[in-house]
Amino acid sequence: MDFKAYVTKKLAELTGLEQETIAGAIEIPPEQKLGDLAFPCFVLAKTLRKAPPMIAAELSEKFEADEWIERAEAVGGYLNFFYRRAAFSKSVLDEIAEKKEKFGMSEIGNGKRVLVEYSSPNIAKPFHIGHLFSTAVGNSLARIYSHLGYETVKINHLGDWGTQFGKLISAYKRWGDRAVIEQDPINELLKIYVKFHEEAEKHPELEDEAREYFKKLEEGDEETTALWQYFRDVSLVEFKRVYDKLDVSFDSYAGESFYSDKMQEVVDLLRDADILTESEGAQVVDLSEDNMPPCIILKSDGATIYATRDIAAALYRHRTYDFHKNIYVVGTPQALHFKQIFASMMKAGWDWAKDCVHVGFGLVKFPDKKLSTRHGDVVFLEDVLNESVQKTLEIIKESNPNLENQEEVAQKVGIGAILYTFLKSSREKDIVFSWDSMLDFDGESGPYVQYTYARGRSILRRVAPAGGAINAEKITSDDEYTLITRLNAFGDAVLDAAEKNEPFYINRYVTNLARAFNKFYNSCPILKDDVDEETRQARLALVEATTCVIQTALSLLGIQTVEEM
Ligand code: ARG
Repeated sequence: MDFKAYVTKKLAELTGLEQETIAGAIEIPPEQKLGDLAFPCFVLAKTLRKAPPMIAAELSEKFEADEWIERAEAVGGYLNFFYRRAAFSKSVLDEIAEKKEKFGMSEIGNGKRVLVEYSSPNIAKPFHIGHLFSTAVGNSLARIYSHLGYETVKINHLGDWGTQFGKLISAYKRWGDRAVIEQDPINELLKIYVKFHEEAEKHPELEDEAREYFKKLEEGDEETTALWQYFRDVSLVEFKRVYDKLDVSFDSYAGESFYSDKMQEVVDLLRDADILTESEGAQVVDLSEDNMPPCIILKSDGATIYATRDIAAALYRHRTYDFHKNIYVVGTPQALHFKQIFASMMKAGWDWAKDCVHVGFGLVKFPDKKLSTRHGDVVFLEDVLNESVQKTLEIIKESNPNLENQEEVAQKVGIGAILYTFLKSSREKDIVFSWDSMLDFDGESGPYVQYTYARGRSILRRVAPAGGAINAEKITSDDEYTLITRLNAFGDAVLDAAEKNEPFYINRYVTNLARAFNKFYNSCPILKDDVDEETRQARLALVEATTCVIQTALSLLGIQTVEEM
């Protein structure tokens, strides 16, 4: 039963307005005591030539209660509708029981493909905290779009091409030791890469050597290609270890190198479209009309750059996937880069470029000096993950010493705490990483929500719900009803999250849901002896529905649940 659609239909009969107009105007009142839905009567003021409060009063007189709607009250210029609590509760609980993890799903995405590019670390370089931010947001967005029926393609645009690999090869040939590198590949490769830069200060001819190596690589020279492949392979092993920890996966690892043979065509197409101009020896797309610096396509030495590869990638994605949306989850500092390439593509007449979206995010700050910095100033992602799991384990050992699978629980909760932190505020805000708030089991944290889930599950383990019909008249108190309305709001939260590309909407949703559940749990006894059986069963159904929706909502954030913690 869709209560909103029902009210819309009734209002249409009452006012003679189109259902569509009404559906667009109807609001959810800011407070529960104002009802479930509100119709702003100013929509009718012009046609009726009456003041909205008067219209509201007249409509409330005309309105007749029925089995679904208890009353319609005029408050100021609004007509507020109150559902029959039991009828509404039953309808929501039945729907969740039937759809389970499919509750809140939609079909709006059916037949449409959304590409989500995220993570995209650079090979032979450490996977840093910004890449983790991208991974958290992108992984969540992909899950959110899937929930709405879109076919999603998860892409890792690895940074595995560019002149820096000429330097790395040169460094490797001079100082590389495979046995040492094998021990700790990324850090060792980083070391020799840094050394190259130091040495090149003193011996500039090293730069020429590096250029030569990159040229060889571009030409497909066997030895350099094998080295590059080796760097890529060892880097991927490390990245995948991190992805496994995070429970994250990709459909494509087509990174920058994948486009190395697809750039000539881009240059040709842009030239044919007559948008390439020369500037200080380089070939650029002039974007002064758009108030942007030019987008460089070919450097003065004829080499392609990051932007060229991105344009080639966009074209490839358009041809291969015919996308509805092509989303790039990349830090806000690269906002200009994306504006430039999108504008260049529009100039080339590729109108599908309007469906390319840069989804930016802020910086991560570490006020906590204690956050591991064993590598100097850079905070290493894997250290952060491990530390979170370790700290969670300590907390659990103390609070629940008899728990059997402590390690596994600490993994899920510790990693969940980090993902939650990244998705806690709107993504463009900077994030402050603090262990205290991240692992605060009572605060606004991942563990708080996971704990709420585990608490619900433990009730269900102690008394299994009988199943079958419940008497929803037994769960009409304010705390119970608020919880029901929160459950019902899940679908809208998913839609909002996708519309704004903001997983934070789901995060806020699930946190509020957990709060409402805990309030209900404190005021409505379930297992106590003096609770009658009908009430107990109805409340158990509410617990079951809540745990189901918390689990689904957390899964859209990429966070796993535990049965006990
Ligand atoms: N590898 C880049 C970096 O670490 C991010 C790549 C972003 N994606 C893109 N299509 N340019 O900064």
